[in-house]
Amino acid sequence: MSEVDTTPTVGPWAREKLDALAAYLDFYTKVLKNQGHWVKSTTFVDAFAGAGRARLRRRLSEGAAESLIAELDPLPIDADAEEYIHGSPRVALGIANPFSRYVFIERDPARVAEQEHGERYRIELRPGQCDEELDALLQGDLGRSGHLAVVFLDPFGMQLSWSMIERLAATKRIEVMINFTLGMGIQRVLPRSAELRPGWRETLDRFFGSPDWYGQVYEEKADLLGAKTEKRRDSGQRLLEWYRSRLKAAFGHVSPARLIKNTKGGHLYYLIWAGPHPKGLDGARYILSKGDKVDRASAA
Ligand SMILES: C[S@@+](CC[C@H](N)C(=O)[O-])C[C@H]1O[C@@H](n2cnc3c(N)ncnc32)[C@H](O)[C@@H]1O
Repeated sequence: MSEVDTTPTVGPWAREKLDALAAYLDFYTKVLKNQGHWVKSTTFVDAFAGAGRARLRRRLSEGAAESLIAELDPLPIDADAEEYIHGSPRVALGIANPFSRYVFIERDPARVAEQEHGERYRIELRPGQCDEELDALLQGDLGRSGHLAVVFLDPFGMQLSWSMIERLAATKRIEVMINFTLGMGIQRVLPRSAELRPGWRETLDRFFGSPDWYGQVYEEKADLLGAKTEKRRDSGQRLLEWYRSRLKAAFGHVSPARLIKNTKGGHLYYLIWAGPHPKGLDGARYILSKGDKVDRASAA
């Protein structure tokens, strides 16, 4: 029986995300190396770690180019042009000044099995659900006095809960880099008609931590036939700014949001950093301001 290749396929834009992550982790660990003599441990947590590597998609099939969720909707690739890239865990292991501990959380056992392990670094593989595993880490020393951490939150869609974000922020010692899946996930479930499929309203309430997202997306309009609910033209921008302002309230500081696009210019998602220290903001602002970004005065 032939072996099934479980390696995920990603679009070329994944590189931009991983480069930004690497640049921030480099910045963070360099600053601590120079100034952090009081720090007992540094941990990098990849809470949606994926597999250790991904196959880079080079050629999109005609008519399917608009498909945005590479991992859920794999497209044919040009086998001759196959190329593999390191996933976020290996990118994090490759920085010049390593963290003292690496934790990789992933719910798919096949992807966990592909992760790096070995003697060189202190690596903890945690197969399971992001929220449960992060809660278990918070019961230990993660985010306690002298124990600093960066948590990378890179889901496909809306698997991240706002209450988890609040628990990380409450430590005042944890920074997050978030993939805010506006184009790939959130906008896809928000129809113009406001008739959401069953279950999505609850999922969005959990993701945003409040039912107020609805007012950012939809508005009542009156015409000769009466009142009707319509999607706002600027709903994406409103959701992004509202989410950033909530991150700023929770953590203290939030970066500009860096827009990641597909090769056709379609908006996929935004990378956003949030954390408790202005120094972290300096680095994140610089790194995430390269390329397209959004930085409104309201949340900056
Ligand atoms: C976008 S991929 C991660 C890619 C990876 N960060 C990288 O850049 O190489 C998202 C991963 O999260 C995993 N996942 C989805 N929901 C999860 C959850 N609730 N808990 C843990 N892992 C989850 C999926 O199996 C998938 O491998």
